Amino acid sequence: MVETTISCIKADVGSLAGHVIVPEPMLDIMREHLKKEALNKGIIDDFYVFNVGDDLETVMTHNRGANDEKIHELAWDGFIKAADYAKKNKLYGAGQDLLADAFSGNVRGQGPGVAEMVFEERKSDPVIIFACDKTEPQAFNLPIYKIFADPFNTAGLTLDPTMIAGFTFEVYNLYEHTRIMLDTPEETYELLALIGTTSKYAIKRVFKKGEGKETQRIAAEICTEKLNVSAGKYVGKDDPVAIVRGQSGFPAVGEIMEGFTHAHIVSGWMRGSHKGPLLPVSVKDATPTRFDGPPRIVALGFQVGNRKLYGPRDMFSDISFDLVRKKALEIADFMREQGPFEPHRVSEAELEYTTMPQVMEKLKGRFKKIEE
Ligand code: 13P
Ligand code: 13P
Ligand code: MG
Ligand code: MG
Repeated sequence: MVETTISCIKADVGSLAGHVIVPEPMLDIMREHLKKEALNKGIIDDFYVFNVGDDLETVMTHNRGANDEKIHELAWDGFIKAADYAKKNKLYGAGQDLLADAFSGNVRGQGPGVAEMVFEERKSDPVIIFACDKTEPQAFNLPIYKIFADPFNTAGLTLDPTMIAGFTFEVYNLYEHTRIMLDTPEETYELLALIGTTSKYAIKRVFKKGEGKETQRIAAEICTEKLNVSAGKYVGKDDPVAIVRGQSGFPAVGEIMEGFTHAHIVSGWMRGSHKGPLLPVSVKDATPTRFDGPPRIVALGFQVGNRKLYGPRDMFSDISFDLVRKKALEIADFMREQGPFEPHRVSEAELEYTTMPQVMEKLKGRFKKIEE
């Protein structure tokens, strides 16, 4: 049985114009780096480099497990090289997400976002890599719930006898660093009570229920790094990635894609301080230009075989997503009309982690007690 690790490690290390796209030379720098330092040396089996907006994304396959120091260092070094290009050419936000001066064993908490999954390869393994710009990990709560727990989304929950038992969700409290496992369908309402609170809880992993090993049951893994919490100040948005496995006891690829047909509202637009619809787009349209958005998601479909990546297929480039995009753009127009008002602008609590503290600091001596 081949055991495969997929590591998706991403960072925003520079872009143009402003926060719109990673320029091609920076993607090439990362490709060259991974080829020379990892693939040719046999450290990884395969890789793919792409961008969503201003975020530089790597997908690597190997057999070293999650949180492997060498793999994290490879990604870190590649980001440093790309950031050097951005700095030299005065691109925008050069080195934005690299919070530490030097690599120290693992990129978690140092700025880059990470989603890693270790699984036993089956006869055939479709894997979808999702990557977002201008949003946060909680953007995945609604679609991942629909994919793995809503029979109105996923026909397999009622039609595939191996899926009827349901799935187990691992949920993180992002601010208290606690986690809880919840089973569906039995604990559906408790799960929704938590993950509906997107300001606090994020789905981290989903497992198929049953007896098998975790490496057989793992179905989805979402990057939950909070950039601003790690940095202690606003530097940019988390812009997460996620890995989802499909078919044969997992949701069909089409059921996975169906989770992204809602143009649901997420946080992270303009200055990380606004809410707007999540717009599913092809990689070529992952260019968040209007008000630095609206928030984008791309989906790359791979077949993973013997640790090689076959593909990708640019999944949202299909015309069947045109009406979702139209709806999202209409919602975007409507929300923009509200300018600086909630709920287009995020709540004060959410602004704590972004741009409000300096404004409040400036005004703090000027609040007087109301006497009447
Ligand atoms: P699986 O048995 O591989 O999940 O096939 C179901 C399917 O492809 C439905 O579209
Ligand atoms: P990024 O997190 O994508 O760099 O966006 C930052 C921002 O403030 C956009 O308005
Ligand atoms: Mg940026
Ligand atoms: Mg970004």
